[in-house]
Formats: sequence, structure tokens, C-alpha cells
Amino acid sequence: MHKIAIIGLGYVGLPLAVAFGKKFDVIGFDLNERRINNLKSKKDTNNEFNKLELKKTSIKYTNRPSDLHDCNIYIVTVPTPVTKKNLPDLNPITKATLCISKYLKKKDIVIYESTVFPGVTEEYCAPLLERKSKLKFNVDFFCGYSPERINPGDKLHTLEKIIKIVSASNDWSLRIIKNIYGKIIKNKIYIAKNIRTAEAAKIIENTQRDLNISLINECAILFNKMNIGIFDVLKAASTKWNFLNFYPGLVGGHCIGVDPYYLTYKAKQIGIKPKVILAGRKVNNYMPTHVAKILLKNLKKKTKKKNFKIIIFGATFKENISDIRNSKILEVGKILKKKGHNIHFIDYNIQELKDHILVKKLKKNTYDGILLGVPHKRYLKMQISKLRKIAKKNHVIFDITNKYGMKKEILSL
Ligand SMILES: NC(=O)c1ccc[n+]([C@@H]2O[C@H](COP(=O)([O-])OP(=O)(O)OC[C@H]3O[C@@H](n4cnc5c(N)ncnc54)[C@H](O)[C@@H]3O)[C@@H](O)[C@H]2O)c1
Repeated sequence: MHKIAIIGLGYVGLPLAVAFGKKFDVIGFDLNERRINNLKSKKDTNNEFNKLELKKTSIKYTNRPSDLHDCNIYIVTVPTPVTKKNLPDLNPITKATLCISKYLKKKDIVIYESTVFPGVTEEYCAPLLERKSKLKFNVDFFCGYSPERINPGDKLHTLEKIIKIVSASNDWSLRIIKNIYGKIIKNKIYIAKNIRTAEAAKIIENTQRDLNISLINECAILFNKMNIGIFDVLKAASTKWNFLNFYPGLVGGHCIGVDPYYLTYKAKQIGIKPKVILAGRKVNNYMPTHVAKILLKNLKKKTKKKNFKIIIFGATFKENISDIRNSKILEVGKILKKKGHNIHFIDYNIQELKDHILVKKLKKNTYDGILLGVPHKRYLKMQISKLRKIAKKNHVIFDITNKYGMKKEILSL
């Protein structure tokens, strides 16, 4: 019987630990002591699971590396961020790999789920595992790669319901990997040709999305100047059978806006200068400035004032989650604040904001500008009449995502 260690209990690792925990003996390992203590008391601060769901599991949560000693399958789900210069930061994956290498035994399998560029598992991690353990890759121990596709806040496309790609360093480990994932995945298991193919598949899923959004964002910027509404254009264009539905907006978080940099890093390493991928990143990185510009231009026109009090609905990097890391709506707030405007955020999904005022209650007749930033479920139910009450007589309401359904009355991208 396998004993599985999940290394890194975040948005990816915890759901995996919970799923495997229903079928196997599972160790949930994370360096973050607070996260471990919370999970020990069945509290998931990412809000992916409630207390009851966690109470049903029998995962052993720990931040003590030595608890990994009797595991034979290790699944790595640690972050793969970028540095300030947008280069891959492999520190967490290196640390996790070195930690595993101390406990690696013959016939153990190390599976990576963190998003990486092609080659990281076999060319970077396997040698690290070899060096510390003194074992030989693909002789004594084996590796696998199974990219993660979960979408935080999305209750439809959950781990168990979506197709899972698996890959391995040899046939023996592939059989085991396919078998263990087969116990938790209700949908299909797709076997990729090899580890590099699986790594590449994941990275282009997100790169493709980033680029498609950037194209629509560029069109939104262009059409805005021409007084043409991008959402009206998309509605018309999508009547064609093969038009792809992508929408303009802010691309934040730690996947779509990060993964393209992993791919372009690898491209440069092998002497290829990517021309398209980074162009998309540039456009998407510009969007917070574009949003701030539209809002200010319209506020000046409407109010004839120079300084504004603005409330922003939603602070997270996307809807229906509590994660504010790399949130582009916070960047919009920062840009506006830097220009001297008084910025308030409201978001029922979060408790505090470090650099901004987070209000809990809305006061009447207070704001010049209302920026509907993140379309959280609860905010989508708001009536325009309620919004107008918190606004001053002359005001601007700007719905970035066009999801609030108040269409004609308010400003859109
Ligand atoms: N969040 C998503 O929607 C998503 C989807 C698909 C893929 N991914 C990828 O999955 C990976 C993990 O993402 P996430 O969103 O779960 O990250 P996260 O930040 O939510 O969680 C990572 C966890 O790993 C822990 N950790 C960091 N270094 C560690 C170490 N050396 N040992 C043990 N624990 C360590 C952190 O404390 C944290 O709790 C990333 O590569 C990401 O790109 C994420």
C-alpha cells in the first residue's frame, strides 16, 4: 500500500491531499507552520474546504520533514513564482526537492505538479534528488509529472472531475502513477508521451489563455479610443461559428500571468527569441493603467473636479476567491492612490488589506467613482439604485468586466 506525501498545501496541494486522503495514507507537509496549525484545527484559510469536509479526512498535517521518512510517493505542489525581473524562481521547488532527497528510498516515486518549463523535472529536479540521496534516477527512484488544472473558486472544474494528464520516467512508475491517480479522478487519465510533453502541455494552456486575453485587451484599448464598446463588438463577432470567446480584463494571480515567463525563459536558454508571447504579457501588464485612465478621464468630465473619492468592489485577483496575491485590481488602486485620489476597497472575501483602506460598510452620498472590479457572486446581485445611493450627485460607475448587467447606464471597458 502506498503512503503519499503532498509537499505544499496551498490551492493545489490541499485538494490533492483531501482527495488522496480518501483512498491512501497521506502526509500533508508544508513549511508554513501557521497553515499547518490551521489545517490541524480543520481550518482552510483559502476557503476551498469547510470544517466539516476537512473533519472527514484523516490526513496527517506536519511541518516536520522527518515525517516524510516512510512515504514512498511524494507529490510536489509548491509555488513556482517569478522574480522581480520576471525570471523563474525555482527556490521553493529546489527546497522541496532537497527535502525529499533526504528521505528518498529505492523504488520511491517523486511526482511534480507545480507548473514548470519543459525539462525541470528530469534535468533539474532528478539530479538534485540523485545528489543528496546517492540513489540513481530511473534505476533506484523514479519521477513523474502531472500538471494541475484546478481553477480556485470554480466548483465545476474540480480536481476529481477534470481530465488529468500524467507522465512518468519509465513504464513501471507510469503504471503506478496512473493507478493512484485513477483512484481519485472520476474523469479520464490522459497519458502524455513523456514528462517533457506533460510539462509543455501545462505551460501552453496558460500561455495560450494569456495571449488570447491580451489580443482582446489590445482591441479594447483601440476601440475605446474610437468610442466602440468592446463587449458590443464581442457579442456581434461571437455569432460567427469559429470566433473564440475571450474577454478583456485584468490578468493577475500566479498562473496565467506568470507561466508565460517560464516558457520564454526556456526559449531564451535554447537560443530562441520568442516574439509573440512577451508581447501579450506587455499588453496585459498595461491594463491596470488603462483602467485607471478611463476612470479618471470620465470622472474629470462628469464632475469637473480634480480629486476623487473612489470605491473599488473586489480586491482579489479573480472572482469568488480570497487570494489577493498579484491582484491587478489592487494595482489599479495603487495607481489611483499615487495620483492623489482617496481609494477605498470593499471585499467580503478578505479580512484585511496592507496598503489600502478596506471598508466593511458603505456610507450614503460618499463616492465620486465606483469601480466594479472583481465580479464576486454577491456583488453581482447589487442593484444600480443601491450603488447610486453611495455615490455623490455627479458620479461615474465603471464596470470593468461587464458582468454586473447594468449595461447601458454605466461605463464599461
Ligand atoms: N492555484 C492555481 O490555480 C493553480 C492551478 C494550476 C497549477 N498551479 C501551480 O501549482 C503550484 C502551486 O500553486 P498553489 O496555488 O497551490 O500555491 P500556494 O501558494 O497556494 O501554495 C503553496 C504552498 O506550498 C508551501 N511551500 C512553499 N515552499 C515549500 C517547501 N519547500 N516545502 C513545503 N511546502 C512549501 C507554501 O507554504 C504554501 O502553503 C504552482 O506551481 C502553480 O503555478 C496553481
